[in-house]
Formats: sequence, structure tokens, C-alpha cells
Amino acid sequence: MQTPKERIELQKVQLEKALPILNHKISSHFAPIVKFEPKILIICGSGLGNLTKKLAAKPHLIIPYNELPGFQTSTVQGHSGELWVGHLKDTPVLIMKGRLHSYEGYDIRDTVYPIRLLNRYSKKYCNGSLNNLLVTNAAGGLNDNFKMGDFMMISDHLNMPGFAGNHPLVGPNWEEDGERFLAVSDAYDFKLRKLFLSTFKSLQNEGLVSNKRAIHEGTYTFVSGPTFESRAEARFLKAAGSDAVGMSTVPEVIVARHCGWKVLALSVITNNVVTGMPQKATESAPDEEEIPLDAGKANHKEVLEIGLHAAEDLENIVENIADSF
Ligand code: HPA
Repeated sequence: MQTPKERIELQKVQLEKALPILNHKISSHFAPIVKFEPKILIICGSGLGNLTKKLAAKPHLIIPYNELPGFQTSTVQGHSGELWVGHLKDTPVLIMKGRLHSYEGYDIRDTVYPIRLLNRYSKKYCNGSLNNLLVTNAAGGLNDNFKMGDFMMISDHLNMPGFAGNHPLVGPNWEEDGERFLAVSDAYDFKLRKLFLSTFKSLQNEGLVSNKRAIHEGTYTFVSGPTFESRAEARFLKAAGSDAVGMSTVPEVIVARHCGWKVLALSVITNNVVTGMPQKATESAPDEEEIPLDAGKANHKEVLEIGLHAAEDLENIVENIADSF
């Protein structure tokens, strides 16, 4: 097991190798027709990766993660590993189809390496054009007002692994990117949330977003997983002010903020987290019927299915807001 310092030193070596490869791939594909200067990095969560279809109509490039030194490939079903390079309407974007999670066993610093690399790429070759992160995830709803399939714009977070020192900025500071002690009280951009909200509403009025879907705003908790929450853990998170819970996003948001980018982060509520107390054997009558303990239990298949249905609406909204970043 490497120390954080050793890991970051290795990442810096890999980054220097990856930069010219990435630049060669992108510039030989797009130049001389256009100088490709990406504006937004979009990271797609579980079941939400079909946004790439919107890029397919125009010239685009797909780079498998394993062609870029330092990029690890995701092992989770439903999360492939490709960097898509293209345009959403007229806006040049990069889309990460498939992300890395710490529950797969990766060092948390490796899950955010793509942001470090792409930030450096943009500074070195694209006049620093890349300044925005749009990140989506599937999350369990803790707020009683949330239904499956609703959207939540993240306005704040709880970083549970971070409390215990498993934090993406632990290790030598990447001085070229940002300061040692980063404030995250302003992590989620207000104007981008307003933009998403107004576009959600107007597309819903036009019938391009389901009328059944509601939009909320709230606090997302990052847990390491891979277990879904126990009942007591869920009650703990709810009592701590959390509206939704998932296994991603916060490390990427922290590193994007460290690089000085703006962030728009969106959750699709794919399941309601079970928070009720389990039936008590000590307090039940001998003949009392058993209440199935697994009622409402989360499962990955359901998360992917709900994600897929919500994805189309999310894709329409994202396509419509990209030009306004
Ligand atoms: N908990 C944690 N992560 C999740 C959940 C959940 O209920 N749903 C989707 N991702």
C-alpha cells in the first residue's frame, strides 16, 4: 500500500506522460477544422451515461480510459470507462462515461486523477478553457418529500469518509492547482442551480420533461459504500441534515473546486432509503406476524433502472443548458 505522498508523486509522473497523448488524440481529430477548447467536464453517474448519444450526431472522439496513463478503469457494471470528446449543441465538452469509486478499492486520489489531468490539459493546451464540472449521480432519498425519479440539485454536502481522513486532498498539495486549505462552503454554484431549475421548469411545460418528476435542492452525503445504509446509519444521516446519500461525487467536486472550477451537481433519487426501526423481537407477542425486513430495500438493478428512465429528462436539460455555462 502506497502512502498518499507516494501515490501523488506517481500520479504526477503519469500525468506528464498522459498530457501529450491526450493532446495528440484530440488535436489530430479536431484540428484544423476546429480548435477544440472544452468548456465543461461532465461526469455521468449510474445509468446516466447515455448523454454521450447527444454528442454522436457531430464529429466526436472516444478515448478508452486505458489509453491514458494514470486513468484507472471502472469495474462496476453499468459504468463503462470512456472519455468522450465532442459538442453538446455548440458547446465543446468532455464527458466521462463511467467514473471510479473508492468502494472498488481505488485510492481516493485515483478517483479524482481525471480532473487533475484534464485541468492541466486545459491550462497547457486550451488557454484554461475548462472551468466547469457538471456531475450527476444516483442517490438514495432520505428526505420524506422525495420520490423515486425526482431530481435533487446539490447545494451542500457531508463528506463522511473525509471526516475520518479518507479525503482526496490528503497528501502533498497540488500547488499548481490550488491552495492547501480549501473552503468548500461555496462549492455549489448558485447561478448554475438557477439555470438548471429554470430550464427544468420550461422543458416540463413543453412536455420534454416528465410531469411526474419533481425537483428539489439539498444536502448530499458521500459514503464509501459498497453497502447501502443500515437503518441506523440512514437515521443518523437524516438527523445530521442529509437529504440524499450516495457513493460518489463529493471527491470530484472537492478537486474541481481545488482547481477553481464552478460546479453543478445533480442527484437522481433512485430509491427511498429505509429509515424505520426494525420490528422488535423483544416487544412482539409470541404469535405476532413478521414484518418483512427487506421491504423497501435498495438494490443496484433498481438504481440502474430508475436512473435510465430519469436519464432522458436529465439529458434534455443538460443539452439545453450547456450553451449558457
Ligand atoms: N445509498 C447509497 N448510495 C446509493 C443509494 C443509496 O440508497 N442509491 C443509489 N446510490
